[in-house]
Amino acid sequence: MDEITLTLNGSPVSGRQGMTILELARENGIEIPTLCYVEGFPPTGACRVCVVEVAGLRTLVASCHTPITQGMVISTHSPRVLETRKVIVELLLANHCGSCFLCEKANLCEIRKIAADLEVGLPRFQVRKRYYPIEDVSPYIKRDMSKCILCRRCVLACNEIAKQNVFGIAYRGFRSKIVVDCDQPIDKEVCRDCGICIPLCPTGALSKPVDVREEKKGQPLVIKG
Ligand code: FES
Repeated sequence: MDEITLTLNGSPVSGRQGMTILELARENGIEIPTLCYVEGFPPTGACRVCVVEVAGLRTLVASCHTPITQGMVISTHSPRVLETRKVIVELLLANHCGSCFLCEKANLCEIRKIAADLEVGLPRFQVRKRYYPIEDVSPYIKRDMSKCILCRRCVLACNEIAKQNVFGIAYRGFRSKIVVDCDQPIDKEVCRDCGICIPLCPTGALSKPVDVREEKKGQPLVIKG
């Protein structure tokens, strides 16, 4: 296996041919935030949260899909990287609808955690938000596309893991949306109860519908007079 020597955050390190910067960083105990990347699957490069600086390159690069090369000098947390990452997360949040206080994803929300780590407060940018009605006709999955950040992890999960190809991406630019068929509400005819995509969703866009009968089981019995 060809060894590659390079510099990571000022320290000499070595990696292997075919490794990405993200893999090298993780192997060396350096945490780079990611939102669209799923370990073991081809990176889509959709979110740009994982950007890093490589000496000699004019622009920052997405670490999840940039291979390492001999002699590279990489900074994963330089001031420029942190400021850019912060703006990327701010823009994602500015577009993202709903209140964190009311969201079922709560502390499991990955964008919320990354925003807290980067000390992102209320977004500075006023951008148009994408509002969609909640889709809860399926007994297996509830979709709130107003919270979707278009990371495409659900598409990956359904295509590559469940092999069902239920989701696709449609429209362009601001109107881009993860859709089912020709943008139909998801129902039990197309989506089975595999649930693979739900935990992979980094926000509250996908969740399990609450079973009303189960919910009622936990409530105190009220005897009406
Ligand atoms: S994690 Fe690299 S672009 Fe999203």
